[in-house]
Amino acid sequence: MEDRGVALCEHRHVAIGAEKQEAGEWSGLSGASVLADELSKVYRVAVRKPGFWGSVRQLVASETRDVIAVDDVSFSIDQGEFVGYIGPNGAGKSTTVKMLAGILHPTSGHVQVKGLSPARARQEVAQQIGVVFGQRTQLWWDLPTVDSFEILAAMYGVSPGDYKKFMDEFTDLLSLDEFLDTPVRRLSLGQRMRADIAAALIHRPRVLFLDEPTIGLDVVAKAQVRDFLSRMNRDHGVTILLTTHDLRDIEELCHRVMVINHGRLMFDGGLESLIASAGLPATMRLRLSSMIPELAAGQALGHGLCTIMSIDYSSRSVDLSFDRRKASAAQVLIAAQELGEVRDVSLVEAGMEETVKWLLTSEG
Ligand SMILES: Nc1ncnc2c1ncn2[C@@H]1O[C@H](COP(=O)(O)OP(=O)(O)OP(=O)(O)O)[C@@H](O)[C@H]1O
Ligand SMILES: [Mg+2]
Repeated sequence: MEDRGVALCEHRHVAIGAEKQEAGEWSGLSGASVLADELSKVYRVAVRKPGFWGSVRQLVASETRDVIAVDDVSFSIDQGEFVGYIGPNGAGKSTTVKMLAGILHPTSGHVQVKGLSPARARQEVAQQIGVVFGQRTQLWWDLPTVDSFEILAAMYGVSPGDYKKFMDEFTDLLSLDEFLDTPVRRLSLGQRMRADIAAALIHRPRVLFLDEPTIGLDVVAKAQVRDFLSRMNRDHGVTILLTTHDLRDIEELCHRVMVINHGRLMFDGGLESLIASAGLPATMRLRLSSMIPELAAGQALGHGLCTIMSIDYSSRSVDLSFDRRKASAAQVLIAAQELGEVRDVSLVEAGMEETVKWLLTSEG
């Protein structure tokens, strides 16, 4: 998988359309926004020995082991891109986001955000980025939500005029007025997430890092968050890196996806090329006017262009499986004439979910 991991990383630079270059407080959008250069993070963790004497030994001479959370990851994200960052539990996504945001120092390698190093220019980078961790709020638990916004606005030096603009725009887009006076601890998960996302944008950052912002949300709340993020990216050109386990988020929002597993970047490229690279079989579903008897699953048609996957004589339907890289849908349809007169046809392509599963399970 090592070779393919490299081969699958396109490290593209996406040109940003003029529509992203909005005037006003979101202006000045051009060039690479986020750079990760051979980024690695190794956590040193204590090895716990079982039992009483194990605990005593630990006090005297603690044994440690290294956990390689992020392993030599490089990528470049241009201003205005909306990039999905996916991978299984423990793959290294949150660790990467924390390094990009300057919360964690890399063990080796470098990060740049808008040309600045989070380690060396922490405050300047903080002005450029917004961060949301879906698992944990950054707001003040016991204060009314609006108080958290006011504190953050003061911390970031947002002028009263800009703060009013923020409240006018975001209250409407994220329905904040439902809960502005409610203490954060009493917010529902969906409300809390909207509050956190709004708070991350109070100082109009150019770059937004989102670590599972849709976790635990119902379908309506997810749709609202997705709409909002899409608008921020499209209308204001905010660069977004989105970590999620919900591949629908990626399909609906991202043009580019990065896949990480065991700390290593397995894929970096467009959604279509991810799906194409897997070469998973497509399925053509046929309804026939009449069917020749003696068909069998596994039977090849068109000199091996496609294979019968299943047959249903009662509805006169047949599913054919074929490799997109070897045959076109038109060729398969011609081969299908061997079965009888085709009345209806539909095509089912392999989706993101199957592709990602394939990518992760065929590693090694
Ligand atoms: N503070 C820490 N100390 C030690 N090990 C850690 C620490 N944080 C994370 N790890 C380990 O680093 C690896 C990557 O963790 P990380 O949280 O980055 O994964 P993730 O991709 O965000 O996973 P998830 O999808 O579950 O959120 C895991 O093996 C995890 O156990
Ligand atoms: Mg995580």
